[in-house]
Amino acid sequence: MSDVNTMQIEFTLNGTPTKVDVAPMDRLLDTLRYALGLTGSKEGCGEGECGACTVYLDGVPVNACLVPTFQVRGCHVETIESIPHESLDAMLTSGATQCGACTPGVVMTACWLNRHPELSKTHSVRELMAGNLCRCTGYDGIIDGIECEQRTKSSTL
Ligand code: FES
Ligand code: FES
Repeated sequence: MSDVNTMQIEFTLNGTPTKVDVAPMDRLLDTLRYALGLTGSKEGCGEGECGACTVYLDGVPVNACLVPTFQVRGCHVETIESIPHESLDAMLTSGATQCGACTPGVVMTACWLNRHPELSKTHSVRELMAGNLCRCTGYDGIIDGIECEQRTKSSTL
């Protein structure tokens, strides 16, 4: 039930109709993690700079730390919990993960690139991943993992 400071917000979360009572300006990242228990999306900077909190809003990657929850009313939100585990395999085997704080956001962006292969024709993977910061890996493992996944996908088409 809503109190005076909260409102009921209805949206689709990972394919499931969802209702949550939160303050309208609560960050989507907090709503996902603390009100709905989906802790896969991580907080890094909290300022829209690092990409650790990346989710899809109506199919487009956004930083959940910058999105007020009221903004997702009637929308489709997808989080790292909706991503098939196989999509993580290339990351795990290429050394793309150390502390893992950036990994959910990296995987969300990488999977979005896989849905839009036309982007890789005009931009390098490194350019396309510029919104996802990693303090640990030096990026080579991340780029290798994504390119390996893209090669696997294109060879099976
Ligand atoms: S925590 Fe959202 S962009 Fe860094
Ligand atoms: S693996 Fe630690 S921030 Fe990327």
